[in-house]
Amino acid sequence: MNAIPLIITIDGPAGVGKTTLARKLADSLDIAYLDTGAMFRAVGLILERKGCGHDQEKIKTILAGISFGLEGSARQSSVTLNNSRLGPEIRTEEVGMLASRAGQLEVVRDFLKETQQRIGGSTSLVAEGRDMGSVVFPGARYKFFLDASPRTRAERRVSQLESMGIKADYGLILAQMIKRDEQDRTRAIAPLRPAPDAYVIDTGKYCPDGVLEEIHRVLQSGNKQPGANA
Ligand code: DC
Repeated sequence: MNAIPLIITIDGPAGVGKTTLARKLADSLDIAYLDTGAMFRAVGLILERKGCGHDQEKIKTILAGISFGLEGSARQSSVTLNNSRLGPEIRTEEVGMLASRAGQLEVVRDFLKETQQRIGGSTSLVAEGRDMGSVVFPGARYKFFLDASPRTRAERRVSQLESMGIKADYGLILAQMIKRDEQDRTRAIAPLRPAPDAYVIDTGKYCPDGVLEEIHRVLQSGNKQPGANA
């Protein structure tokens, strides 16, 4: 009989360091890493290219032709779209905004939730996104919510984009990030917010490895909820 998959969720706003951390955590636990932002980005870009607007029927037809999967393991895990890896074109702040808009649509959220739950039903995961602990995997073994000030996050996003060879303007990134956060936090379905049983970590107070150490400390304590007794 297969063991029940271990699910660890990492949620939080843009640029908070979720991806770096989720990859390192997945590596240290030797389990897969699921980048759900990449799924919203890919869908947002496709809907934009096809000029769907809010046409539900058209969106449903497009989603019916999309199949997401996960290949590779640990930090090398990568989301696939119709069996191909996603390219760097989804990583711009503009596509982030398209993803955030697509994420407001119930039909898109339902489709991706089902996909993510199917993947997590058979594979142990570090699942990264906005609603992993609150909506998609409410029964996850451990839940973390990372936060930091918009300035800290914008600085981090600029260096991340530059390391990928994408030119970035700090002021513009900060403005776009604040707008995207507002959109993600106030949407009607699955808004960005910590699950009630999530550990909230202010990443601005730590170096990246410090956050990883803090998470390992929680995992080793065996406490599934903040404040719970071991
Ligand atoms: O994590 P990211 O920046 O790649 O995410 C891009 C957008 O996708 C984000 O602004 C909102 C949306 N998103 C979402 O609504 N739910 C998720 N689980 C992941 C991303």
